[in-house]
Amino acid sequence: MDQETQQVYDNHGRRINYVRLAVTDRCNLRCFYCMPEHGIKYLPRKELLTYEEMERLLRILTHLGVNKLRITGGEPFVRQNLMDFLERAADIPNLEYIHLTTNGVLTAPYIPRLKAMGISSINLSIDTLDRERFKQITRRDEVEKVKATFYELLEAGIPLKINAVVIDGKNTQDIVELAKLTREHRVDVRFIEEMPFNGEGAHYPELTWDHLRIKQELEQHFGQLEALPGVANSTSVNYRIPGHQGSVGIIAAFSRTFCGSCNRIRITSQGTLKTCLYDNGVLDLKGIMRSGAEDENIRQHLLRAFGSRDRDGFEAESKRSYQISESMSVIGG
Ligand code: 5AD
Ligand code: SF4
Repeated sequence: MDQETQQVYDNHGRRINYVRLAVTDRCNLRCFYCMPEHGIKYLPRKELLTYEEMERLLRILTHLGVNKLRITGGEPFVRQNLMDFLERAADIPNLEYIHLTTNGVLTAPYIPRLKAMGISSINLSIDTLDRERFKQITRRDEVEKVKATFYELLEAGIPLKINAVVIDGKNTQDIVELAKLTREHRVDVRFIEEMPFNGEGAHYPELTWDHLRIKQELEQHFGQLEALPGVANSTSVNYRIPGHQGSVGIIAAFSRTFCGSCNRIRITSQGTLKTCLYDNGVLDLKGIMRSGAEDENIRQHLLRAFGSRDRDGFEAESKRSYQISESMSVIGG
């Protein structure tokens, strides 16, 4: 950290050092737990943050102690010139780690540049390796491209995680199949509880596959899992299947067991700050920037928002005036 940099803590004493930035709300897939079949009403381009605005926010945030960035979407590679932006972000002093979450359909051609810019890791969203089930879940026939991306990322030696949302009646038979990838490959396969961010207020999923049941399913097949030491601020609880090279993790995204150590904030594709995944947006950063605010003014707004963060995802959700109806593609997960 240089001299002008401070480390901010929120009103619950949690250090904030991690920002998740959604660079677009658009996606080339239509995962049913994220979007309706016809898609969501995409934002007009001028409603999205420009790359210049994103870079400005990142620079301000690094002066407040943020050193880790995750790029999300929508699908990040649907936005043009993403790599140019990532390469510029990699030059921001104190931004030590840059991660990326992608569905892997358009990703492969960018792997050499991702490697060259020093990407810290990539999360690939794969809920099933089965072509038919992939089609059912994502409403697109693209599993082969995603698998190819998976192997190319391994080959390139980029640290790799797989995110699989576990959905009753859709892919629970894939839990074991996906976990088997950890036998031969150094990959972390993380199973995520389904959350209600599906772009349709109407469908609030009932959680039949919670973190406990996912663990049970794994142990039924592989025997007792070996608990791995917790990584600070991690949302996943991680295990190794004895003898396997990679690891498995479970993210209690709906049960929200990890809020006590939450170090992250989010910036949505339209430039809204969220200090919790479950809140309704706490600050219109785009509006503030476009009204001509100076950096110092933006900094003060951020500090105020960090100073009044909800304690956890339940408190954030309870303060909403209407039920969750937005799509994960707007928030970025
Ligand atoms: N519940 C849980 N996870 C979701 N994701 C998208 N929508 C949901 C949802 N409703 C996941 C994606 C991706 C990550 C960013 O969030 O599969 O891996
Ligand atoms: Fe696209 Fe990811 Fe949403 Fe699927 S979950 S539709 S890949 S943004």
